[in-house]
Parts: sequence; C-alpha cells; structure tokens
Amino acid sequence: MTRILVTGGTGTLGSLVVPRLRDAGGKVRVLSRHGRQDAEDVEFVAGDLDTGAGIEAAVDGVEVIVHCAGTSKGDADKARTLVGPASRAGVRHLVFISVVGADRIPIAGRVDRAMFGYFGSKLAAERVVAGSGIPWTTLRATQFYDLLLLVARQMVRLPVIPAPAGVRFQPVDAGEVAARLAELALGPPSGLVPDMAGPAVYGVPALVRAYLRAAGRRRPIVPVPLPGRAAAALRAGANLAPDRAVGRRTWEEFLADRVKAT
Ligand SMILES: NC(=O)c1ccc[n+]([C@@H]2O[C@H](COP(=O)([O-])OP(=O)(O)OC[C@H]3O[C@@H](n4cnc5c(N)ncnc54)[C@H](OP(=O)(O)O)[C@@H]3O)[C@@H](O)[C@H]2O)c1
Repeated sequence: MTRILVTGGTGTLGSLVVPRLRDAGGKVRVLSRHGRQDAEDVEFVAGDLDTGAGIEAAVDGVEVIVHCAGTSKGDADKARTLVGPASRAGVRHLVFISVVGADRIPIAGRVDRAMFGYFGSKLAAERVVAGSGIPWTTLRATQFYDLLLLVARQMVRLPVIPAPAGVRFQPVDAGEVAARLAELALGPPSGLVPDMAGPAVYGVPALVRAYLRAAGRRRPIVPVPLPGRAAAALRAGANLAPDRAVGRRTWEEFLADRVKAT
C-alpha cells in the first residue's frame, strides 16, 4: 500500500484526488491548516505551509506527495517549506500541479504582478520542486470550471459584467485533472508532463453568456482593455494549450450540472 500525502486535499482539486488515490489502494493522508477527524479511510493532519508548523510530522513515513495546496500568492514559499522535510523523510516522488502558461506569461512590473503574479509564483514553485532533489512530476492545467463559476457568480452581482478584452480561456473539469494527477502519482516520476486543457477555447463573453443562460440571468458584458505585458501574453494565447485539449466535459455540461436557473 503506497503511503501518500495530499496537500490541499480539502480544496477543489485535492478533494477530488483523495478518493481516487484511496480507491486505487493508496493509504492517504491529507494536510490541512485545520485539523479534522479522520474519515473514510483517510487520515487528516494539521499543518501550515506558510509557517512550517506540522509539516515534519505530515511527511513522516510518506512515499509520495501530491502537492495541491496553493493560494493566489506565495506558492514558491509553500513549496520550499514542503520540500526540505519531504526530502529528509525520504519521499520518493513529489507530484505538483501548476498552471498552463506559467512559463509564458511574463511578470515584468507592478501591473503584471498585481493582476497575474499567480503565474509567476507557480513558475517559481515549479522550480523549487524541480530543484528539490526529490524525483518529481509536474502537470500544468488550465483554469478549472469551478473557478470560473465562482468568478461568474461574483460578477453577476454587478449591473454590468467587465470582460478582459481579447483574453480567451480553455477551462477544464477539475475531476478530470484529479484523475490525471492520481494516475501520475501512482506512476513513476516523469518530470514536466504534457499540459492538460479543456475541450474548447472561449472568449470571456462566451463563457459569461453560457453562465447567464444556465442561470436564467441577463447582464450586459463590457470589454475592458488590460494593461501590461502579462495581459498582452494572455491576449496572444499564452494561457491556452489547443494541442492539448484532452478534457472531455464541456463548460456547458458543467453548468447544466451545477447551476440552477432562477
Ligand atoms: N483553480 C484553478 O483553476 C487551477 C488551475 C490550474 C492549477 N491550479 C492549482 O491547483 C491547486 C489547487 O487549486 P484549487 O482550485 O483546488 O485550490 P483551492 O480549492 O483554493 O484549495 C486550496 C487548498 O490549499 C490548502 N492550503 C492553502 N494554504 C495553505 C497553507 N498555508 N498550508 C497548507 N495548506 C494550504 C487549503 O487547505 P486548508 O484550507 O484546508 O488549509 C486547500 O485545501 C493550486 O496549486 C492551484 O494553483 C488551480
């Protein structure tokens, strides 16, 4: 039985990875900042990748780590906090989830950092993983439908929905990414593996209109030009992977399952 730690195992992606690893016969431990009772053959341990508290104990006895913990900032620091103890504990495979475009979206100044610093922090975290000395696998995925839904639900509260002009997305189902990560975690360390993206590329207005249709709402959508080099890279498609459109579930199918028309 492979002993596996899933960081971020309480999040959107991680909570979908955990049952897949457990059902494949893994002995799964979840790291969370908030202690929880163990449930359904999964052990929960408390630890914080910002402070380092609890991390030595969390990695103790673990063979494989699937590192899904992440926030909009500081993922390189979180990775650094993880890899030291993981390396000392003899972890033999570290699997990391990053984002498509991490290496193609330049973070050149304050404007880029404020709007798209996330991509820079994922690239820095990738480098920490690759330089850790632990055999590793990194998968870059596009945005999850859950994230777009969260944003759409916030935007619909506004009288007018701003849409970054010329920016497109190729979102993907988090369950499909979770299945791929679980497969990678149970296989050999593979370095940077091919990107994972959803089945279709959409402009922001098309994504929003599909949400409005599913929710039975109406809102005007107004294009907003974004300044900076990172935004220019996004307009050029740096966040897309059209040749890796391997996801099957569409945005419209996801919305039909998750959104009730009002
Ligand atoms: N969302 C997307 O569209 C997308 C696309 C590509 C890649 N990714 C990457 O996929 C990963 C998971 O994303 P997600 O959308 O599933 O995130 P999420 O739902 O926001 O979950 C974040 C997870 O990180 C954990 N976490 C945050 N800060 C932590 C800390 N200081 N110490 C320990 N754990 C911490 C949280 O655990 P607790 O709150 O329980 O402590 C939670 O389980 C991230 O690395 C993200 O960059 C996301």
